Order: sequence, then C-alpha cells, then structure tokens
Amino acid sequence: MSDKNTLISHLHLQGISRRQFLKYCAVTASMLGLAPNQATVIADTLTGTPKPTVIWLSFQECTGCTESLTRSYDNSIENLILNYISLDYHHTLQAASGVAAEQARLQAMANANGQYVVIVDGSIPLLNGGAVSTIAGQSNLDMLRETVSDAALVIAVGTCASFGGLPMANPNPTQATSVQSLMQEGQIANKPLINISGCPPIPEVISGVVAYYLTYQALPALDEHNRPQIFYGKTVHDCCSRLTHYNAGEFAQSFDDVGARNGYCLYLLGCKGPTTFNSCSSIKWNGSTSYPMHSGHGCLGCSEPQFWDKGSFYSTLNTGPATGDGSSCSAPAIPVLTKI
Ligand code: SF4
Ligand code: SF4
Ligand code: F3S
Repeated sequence: MSDKNTLISHLHLQGISRRQFLKYCAVTASMLGLAPNQATVIADTLTGTPKPTVIWLSFQECTGCTESLTRSYDNSIENLILNYISLDYHHTLQAASGVAAEQARLQAMANANGQYVVIVDGSIPLLNGGAVSTIAGQSNLDMLRETVSDAALVIAVGTCASFGGLPMANPNPTQATSVQSLMQEGQIANKPLINISGCPPIPEVISGVVAYYLTYQALPALDEHNRPQIFYGKTVHDCCSRLTHYNAGEFAQSFDDVGARNGYCLYLLGCKGPTTFNSCSSIKWNGSTSYPMHSGHGCLGCSEPQFWDKGSFYSTLNTGPATGDGSSCSAPAIPVLTKI
C-alpha cells in the first residue's frame, strides 16, 4: 500500500502531528461513547487505511450542509476529514466540471465497486420524472439510483436528504422526497443508510459518524429515523442551559426581556427543544461556542421530520411537561489542530 494514499501522509502534508491527531481521536471516541482505549484504534485504523472513496451528491439543497462542514476555524478536523475523503466527487467543491466531473464519478464507482460511500445532501424531486432538477442531463433520481447501486453505505446529510426538509414543505411543488423514502419504496437499491439530520447538521457529528464507519466498517446504533443514537438519543431540551429555569417555571415572556436575558426558558416563545432530538446543547456549534437557545432563540426543531409543516416556529408547544435533568450532557471540547 502506498503511504501517500493514507491519512497519516495527508496529515503530514497538512503539517498536523500524530500527537495532535491522537487528541482528536480521543475526543471522537468520547463523543461516540466509546471506551478511552478506542481512541488508539481509531487513530491506527484511520492513519493506516487507504483513502476511502466517497462520492458526495448534492441535489435540491441550499449548500448549507456543505457550508456547515467546510466552514473553517483554524485547522478543524472536519476540514481535514473532508479534504481527506472528498476528493473523488463533490458537486460544489470539486474543480472538475461537465463531462470530466461525471467521468470522475463513474470511474470512482468502478474502481471501488461495492466499497465506496455515497453522501447525499438535498432532497430528490420526482415531479415530471425528476426532470425539474438535473445534473449533466441526468435527473437527480437517476443519478442517485445509478450511484447507490454498488455502494457499501449511504449517508444522508441534512434534513433535506434525511426527511425531505424544506423542499418537501407544503405544497411540495417539486414532489421532493428523501433517500430513505426512495429505499423503502424500492425506487433505489436498499443499502445501509445513516441519516444525519439537521438544517444543517452539526459538523462534528458528520465527521464523527464517518470516522466511526471507517474505523469499524459498521454502522453505529441507530434510532427509529436511522439517526445515530449517540448523537440523537437526547432532546436538545435535556441538555439546555435554560433547563433549570424550565424546571423552576421561569419563562421569558418576549425576546430580549429581562427574563430572556437572564437565561429564562424560551418555551412560551415557541422553543421546540422538548421534542427535538439532536446534540446542539451538548456538542454545540462553531467549535463548542454556542447553540440557538444559548444565543437567545428557541429551537426550531430542524432535525425532525416535517419540521417546516408543524406550525409556526413561534407557537408554544402543547406537549405538557418535558423530562430532562441536565445529566450526562457533557461533551468533550473539540480540539483545534495547529500545525507543527
Ligand atoms: Fe440547506 Fe437545511 Fe437542506 Fe441542508 S438540510 S441543504 S442546510 S435546507
Ligand atoms: Fe431550553 Fe427550550 Fe427546553 Fe426551555 S424549552 S429549557 S429554552 S430547550
Ligand atoms: Fe436545529 Fe434546534 Fe439545534 S433548530 S440547530 S435542532 S437547537
């Protein structure tokens, strides 16, 4: 195996030391709920394994999911993983275009037949046989069907690919649907599928799931919506910094009132945290900086199916008292990799 084709050589090229990479692996193992000794297993596997073939397909989307993963603060591991895995085909990031780009996709599929990973962001429109959204003259549906046929794994990134998302919102003018629905209906091959929902999803969750699969060649435990339980097993309410105020019955009455500024709960202002499963309040966003409720706005429920059609984002939920005591919410700080 050529060393230049492995992650360790890629790390060296980026100026990242093995020690720094081990730190990242320790955090990833912790985020994934694995035993501490698994950090070395992840590091050894990722550094010694040839570059995986990943084909990233973007359909009806806003580029927010790709933006989430590629937004950079220094040398983030998400960028590193993305640079490492995504060289084969990515509509938005690749340099190639036109015929050359499509040939690259077909070539990648042929070279890694049965072993490549397909990542999809965006929903798939079915109106007029899919003719409302085409790439290189091929409908999104046909391209997905062709690409998924020999894949080892499909990862739907974002709520659009996972559940239909915004394009599927009423009245769903393009008859948008999700990867999961197409598999269930037999319109595309039924392959192992992981949904990483969120509008957009948390970048560390994307890279953590990819690292898990590359290390163990297996799927993490999934919930009823095919989402990794480790990241979607708790509601954002369960770990919210305003939870003590919720439990004490202290609620902000309007945005930016004294209560809101003092950390009171945003439930009355429409927060959907009690019914939304995601890791925003534990892993947080932008290098563990913040998350919506921390910044003063309620959760919109963006990681749940049909979140656009569930009523106003500012209507109070009618679910009765929610559970949550803030336990088991600590997430490791995400390390920033610095060059040696
Ligand atoms: Fe954009 Fe949200 Fe859809 Fe991602 S899930 S493509 S961020 S609308
Ligand atoms: Fe936080 Fe919203 Fe739950 Fe209040 S209702 S504790 S703001 S998640
Ligand atoms: Fe989305 Fe709610 Fe997190 S709106 S970003 S799931 S706090």
